[in-house]
Amino acid sequence: MSQHLTVVNHPLVQHKLTLMREKTTSTAVFRQLLREISQLLAYEVTADLPMTTQTIETPMQEMQAPVLDGKKLALISILRAGNGLLDGVLELIPSARVGFVGLYRDEKTLQPVQYYFKVPTELNDRLVIAVDPMLATGNSSVAAIDLLKGAGAENIRFLCLLAAPEGIARMKEAHPDVQIVTASVDERLNDAGYIVPGLGDAGDRMFGTK
Ligand code: URA
Repeated sequence: MSQHLTVVNHPLVQHKLTLMREKTTSTAVFRQLLREISQLLAYEVTADLPMTTQTIETPMQEMQAPVLDGKKLALISILRAGNGLLDGVLELIPSARVGFVGLYRDEKTLQPVQYYFKVPTELNDRLVIAVDPMLATGNSSVAAIDLLKGAGAENIRFLCLLAAPEGIARMKEAHPDVQIVTASVDERLNDAGYIVPGLGDAGDRMFGTK
């Protein structure tokens, strides 16, 4: 992928996203839609994976058949909302390796602080797809990418559902090599750091918390 940002304008993605934004959508339906949409986004973010061929035998004859090349890719969930995207993506790529990055925001400094970090080995040889539904200020996403690069990752993509222009700019400045794939670029952030029009707090909506 060469461009820094890909917006997935597929009609199914856009329709499902509208249902997710609607405030009356229940937790169960929100979760189901997130699972479906994450598979469509995963299709897009993996569209240019390297391929090779393998000799197989069909019931008719031998053939050279296309298969994915290289090491298994690594999916990294940025906790906690990343887990909602992770589930759907894993259904489509069941052999992927999986890691988790946990960050919280220090109330005084407002900077992200790491509380959990566990990632697959040999990150430098894998395509790494970091998943987090909301790219808002970009602070925690940039910090997560910093940690992944510190662990050796060299080929990273960032998959989200919604992005704010502020978060895209922040990511582009800090990590211009990281491709962002999203279903929508919304208008802006509000004063509380929420994406508008957005869909509210993604973690609360998928887990039924408040
Ligand atoms: N995180 C969310 O869950 N929602 C936003 O709008 C911004 C950050």
